[in-house]
Amino acid sequence: MKSLIDICDLSREEIDSLLDTANDIIAHPEVYSEKCRGKKLATLFFEPSTRTRLSFEAAMYELGGNVLGFSEAQSSSASKGESVADTARVVSCYADIIAMRHPKEGAPLVASMHASVPIINAGDGGHNHPTQTLADLLTIKREKGGFDGLTLGFCGDLKFGRTVHSLIAAMSRYKDIRVVLISPQELKLPSYVKRDILQKNGIPYTQTTDFESVIDSLDILYMTRVQRERFFSEEEYLRLKDSYILTPEKLRRAKSDLCVMHPLPRVNEISTAIDNDPRACYFKQVLYGKYMRMALILMLLGVN
Ligand code: CP
Repeated sequence: MKSLIDICDLSREEIDSLLDTANDIIAHPEVYSEKCRGKKLATLFFEPSTRTRLSFEAAMYELGGNVLGFSEAQSSSASKGESVADTARVVSCYADIIAMRHPKEGAPLVASMHASVPIINAGDGGHNHPTQTLADLLTIKREKGGFDGLTLGFCGDLKFGRTVHSLIAAMSRYKDIRVVLISPQELKLPSYVKRDILQKNGIPYTQTTDFESVIDSLDILYMTRVQRERFFSEEEYLRLKDSYILTPEKLRRAKSDLCVMHPLPRVNEISTAIDNDPRACYFKQVLYGKYMRMALILMLLGVN
């Protein structure tokens, strides 16, 4: 039994296989509509979510399966003090696979050590978000045709932005990647991600606070929200929240085939005036996330 806790739990070959399956689902959805008949997915969300939870649920329904779960810790027995380990053991009695989001880094890993069914990390604190990365990879593959040779700019809250950490880890496996890190000093990429992923894999990277000086060099621009829920001080959040706002004026400097991505939710980082620009890919990411989660459920349940 395999779980997905970190994007590196998947080999490059497994990611290629998930991308192929997702593309096949997009082309032939009818072939997949009964694949999970009789199977149940539990969504255990101890933190708010729109996309991840609903796309997991839509994915399971579109595979012919069923869904159970909760969308806030308060409505579960965690509010009475039940541990993540016990919750995972208990829900394993009711479901064939579990998607878990939790504010504490490492909680889905703990769940995977006690569950008897596969656990999918649907976001753990400021750590990782591997299924968002699967959505991001399908978006990049469909927009750019592949991964090698791309210059990726990550902009905003690179400290707490778990989607950034997971996508950098996934992209570090491809050839001739360059990374540009754009953030305020206070929200720089954690040193462990730089050391264990970028430096270890010999990925060239630069760090800057000056967004406008680098936008013309990028093939992918990955904007992120400043993660209010991870701040200890509201004052600090308010000071940093509008550090970077992508406007049509700034986008004018960018390549004509730039791919603008954002895991969403958006607060103020991308002007809505960009939404109809052909370079805006963030709503495609949302849709592709559902197909990649369908492919992942099939893989983890061992369904052909
Ligand atoms: N991208 C993402 O994780 O969105 P939600 O928080 O709405 O699930």
